[in-house]
Amino acid sequence: MSDGTTHSTTNDTTDPLLDHEYDGIREYDNPMPGWWVWMFILTTLFAVPYVMWYGMGLGPSIHDNLEAEQVAFAEQLMAMYGDLEADQPTIITYMNEDAAMIGMSSLFKNKCAQCHRADGRGEVGPNLTDDYWVHVNTIVDIAEVIETGRDDKGMPAWGDKLSKTQIVLLSSYVAQLRRQPLEGKDPEGKEIAPWPDEAPGETPDASDNGGDT
Ligand code: HEC
Repeated sequence: MSDGTTHSTTNDTTDPLLDHEYDGIREYDNPMPGWWVWMFILTTLFAVPYVMWYGMGLGPSIHDNLEAEQVAFAEQLMAMYGDLEADQPTIITYMNEDAAMIGMSSLFKNKCAQCHRADGRGEVGPNLTDDYWVHVNTIVDIAEVIETGRDDKGMPAWGDKLSKTQIVLLSSYVAQLRRQPLEGKDPEGKEIAPWPDEAPGETPDASDNGGDT
């Protein structure tokens, strides 16, 4: 008996027997149901562009998507902060603005990490987390170096690629990297004093050079 849904163990079927036999077991030539075959064909076809897009790098990776969102977030922040001045109180103030620093950490990963590493410990460019600096004596020098670059030494100028506000916030971000010194590229330049801990107007605490993170 064979009605297409049940299978008999006896030989009273009209389905043709296949010609192989393993350990005395033979099988009928039962075709797979049409819906199953179509699903197999369609998923197989779907897999080809899928693998090319996500597996072989034709499309954006999830990392690219995340990066694009982070850059967009950084741009939104810029609109929120308006025009900032590259002076000491401004740079110090934004070191403690969490939202701004999160936005800048993505901008830094996007634009600067290729030479300074994502965490700032340095590779082509110097370690930005230690106390040794080549071109920086005071905190405002950071903004100057970012803006004008040191092209002859491999540090690009960002003045024409980033807005003034981005450069100011990025300077705050670079400045606060020093709160967590990391083993990285060997020290370059000379040791400089800690950044002034407090913005002018507040009482500086000379015994505390760590700052809070
Ligand atoms: C193509 C590589 C490269 C990229 C990208 C790059 N830098 Fe640099 N950066 C350097 C090099 C090399 C130096 C050291 C120049 C020198 O020794 O004169 C440097 C120096 C610096 C300094 C001064 C460090 C010191 O010790 O005085 C700062 C600050 C800095 N970079 C920040 C940034 C920021 C922020 C970005 C991203 C917007 C960035 N850099 C992107 C290569 C790079």
